[in-house]
Amino acid sequence: MQASRLRRLSRRAVLGGLVALPALAARSAGSDALPPSLAFLRAAAPLTAANQVLNVMEFEALAREALPPAHFGYLATGADDDRTVARNHDAFSHYEIRAHRFVDVSRIDTTLRLYGTPWTTPIYLSAVSGQRAFHPDAELATARASRSRATLMMLSSVGSTALEPVTEARGAPVWQQLYPTDDWAVTEAVVHRAERAGSPAIVLTIDSMPSRNNETLRRAMAVDSRHCPDCHLNNSHDIVRKGPMYAGLDLTKVTTHAPPDITPAYLDRLRALVGGKLLVKGVVTGEDAALAVAHGVDGVIVSNHGGRNEETLRASLDCLPEVAAAVAGRVPVLLDGGVRRGTDVFKALALGATAVGIGRPQAWGLAAFGQSGVEAVLDILNRELQQIMRQAGTPSLARITREHVIASTWR
Ligand SMILES: Cc1cc2nc3c(=O)[nH]c(=O)nc-3n(C[C@H](O)[C@H](O)[C@H](O)COP(=O)(O)O)c2cc1C
Repeated sequence: MQASRLRRLSRRAVLGGLVALPALAARSAGSDALPPSLAFLRAAAPLTAANQVLNVMEFEALAREALPPAHFGYLATGADDDRTVARNHDAFSHYEIRAHRFVDVSRIDTTLRLYGTPWTTPIYLSAVSGQRAFHPDAELATARASRSRATLMMLSSVGSTALEPVTEARGAPVWQQLYPTDDWAVTEAVVHRAERAGSPAIVLTIDSMPSRNNETLRRAMAVDSRHCPDCHLNNSHDIVRKGPMYAGLDLTKVTTHAPPDITPAYLDRLRALVGGKLLVKGVVTGEDAALAVAHGVDGVIVSNHGGRNEETLRASLDCLPEVAAAVAGRVPVLLDGGVRRGTDVFKALALGATAVGIGRPQAWGLAAFGQSGVEAVLDILNRELQQIMRQAGTPSLARITREHVIASTWR
């Protein structure tokens, strides 16, 4: 399977943007539209290894070629017109970097401590559900990449692989993302299971509602003629009932993985239940960030779910300054959404993030090359981050401050 997958991955696909769906082509890798002077590059050699890929966006084109339309649609989709997805990334270009020259940058240090644990990079793998849709090795490949690159991994509670084998493949406990469902007994069971597996942090996702308008996914499913009863039993897309994290639990009372009544009282209840760190993922306002901290959370993740849930048109980067101001250093503030370059990571850190997550890029790497694809995505981002830290005169993460970015005046 992997060999035929590789045969199909080509530089031509990256450069030429071979597409199954016009709606998806619009957001394809930047090299799709080559000027005539560079047209000769289209005939370049096939890509046979992840380390031949130049940048994270190229992995998107490779994933699009490797995946069936419905699976790529699931990965790519936003809500409504997908404009929040685009804005998440575009927002980074609204800031420019102010480089300082008279600094000794002979040694670049990207290490940080998060809740007492040392990491060599501020980049982490955010929760991505159902990874078997992208590669047969699914979350195990991602966990192995996370292990080999000493990178923090957050496991989705609706992943296609159970927590325990993922922990084993990672060689250390992972953070457990939590879709709580509307049955408290189920929430309790999931939290207890995660804590038994050693997960030091539970991440409650608060930006999901029982339904969302993923039109790109629906279009992609409509053009995908495959019949897939093995994975979608009775054509069901019930992510809780087919998820290994909920296996063996009484799910008769569960109607949704995303209850619409997550209130401060719910946070209090969860805070009392969780023994380790508790973070909330999906915060986009200073008010909510302050409220969450007042109710005892240990961390706030600025995120709009990669623009997949609602079309606010507000990039997560644009939400970061007000959240960072409201939190005022009391707990770490993490950010995800649209991060595709090391300079994006740099800008998020400068605007107040402690660490920066990636969603789709890890799945693009996974779809294209399995474990080595995820590793290559992390390598590229880390290399680019180190480059810009050197060029901007910031030898450590602590040296990256608000002074190092400025709102763009380009129109
Ligand atoms: C295919 C896919 C599945 C996701 N599954 C989850 C999930 O199960 N739980 C969650 O909290 N966020 C989930 N997310 C959101 C990511 O954790 C993250 O917030 C988002 O992808 C970041 O934006 P980016 O894709 O532009 O990097 C998912 C994102 C994608 C693309």
